[in-house]
Amino acid sequence: MSHLLILGGTTEANALAKAVCEQGVNATYSYAGRVESPRPQPLPTRVGGFGGADGLTRYITENAVTHVVDATHPFAAQMSQNAAKACAQTGIALAALTRPAWQSSAGDNWHHVADISAAVTALQGATQRVFLAVGRMHLQDFAAQPQHDYLLRLVDEPDSVPMPKAQIVVARGPFTLDDDITLMQAHKTELVVSKNAGGTGARAKLDAARHLGLPVLMIDRPVVPQRTELATTTQVLDWLAHS
Ligand SMILES: NC(=O)c1ccc[n+]([C@@H]2O[C@H](COP(=O)([O-])OP(=O)(O)OC[C@H]3O[C@@H](n4cnc5c(N)ncnc54)[C@H](OP(=O)(O)O)[C@@H]3O)[C@@H](O)[C@H]2O)c1
Repeated sequence: MSHLLILGGTTEANALAKAVCEQGVNATYSYAGRVESPRPQPLPTRVGGFGGADGLTRYITENAVTHVVDATHPFAAQMSQNAAKACAQTGIALAALTRPAWQSSAGDNWHHVADISAAVTALQGATQRVFLAVGRMHLQDFAAQPQHDYLLRLVDEPDSVPMPKAQIVVARGPFTLDDDITLMQAHKTELVVSKNAGGTGARAKLDAARHLGLPVLMIDRPVVPQRTELATTTQVLDWLAHS
């Protein structure tokens, strides 16, 4: 019997979980365990790291996993590397459910940087009101630029934040254009810092920035290993049926 392991934590992984459940596919959903109360899934769910590529290799073997779909966030590069290594070691079929990177269009004012560290460097200079939409994991990096008035939108209420001037909004996407315009106007945002996540759930802040004529510091995606890339749930179901 086949056993699909979904490496999740994204809107796309959630949609895939729903679809494979409806199809009666034997599958397990895996969360890293970064948020306090992960969204319930209609599949058996496990939470927490595997212990590197070797730990994932053990998990695959012990649980007779036959297929892995890496549906993690485009910035979860470590997990993607581990998945590629573990699947190569075990000879298990691997596909990634990915979403195209966001592209700027007329009216956008995006400045691209290669990674988080380049984004921190780009924030050197005078105090600005910055919507820092990078998630909780990287806040510490931006503590190196404490002069700014930050707007932080986080899934869970943080115990503390590493920057002295921060307004915190606890919310979980998807977000709407109207809400993000209102939020950014209320904060008097002057600059948006965003990872190039792609997809629809977090897109509204970029459309709001365009609407308000604000610049965006866009952090480009990390490099991930070559693998079979699928764009839709239907393509994943087809791949499962034929691989
Ligand atoms: N990075 C983002 O901006 C972002 C945004 C939204 C959602 N997420 C989701 O949050 C999770 C963590 O992201 P990250 O950037 O911290 O990842 P990461 O840096 O690539 O992963 C670090 C470690 O976390 C564990 N891990 C990551 N995803 C896992 C999963 N789905 N199931 C089990 N273990 C997992 C693995 O630990 P071991 O080595 O011990 O196995 C991995 O080596 C991902 O699942 C991702 O889909 C990330």
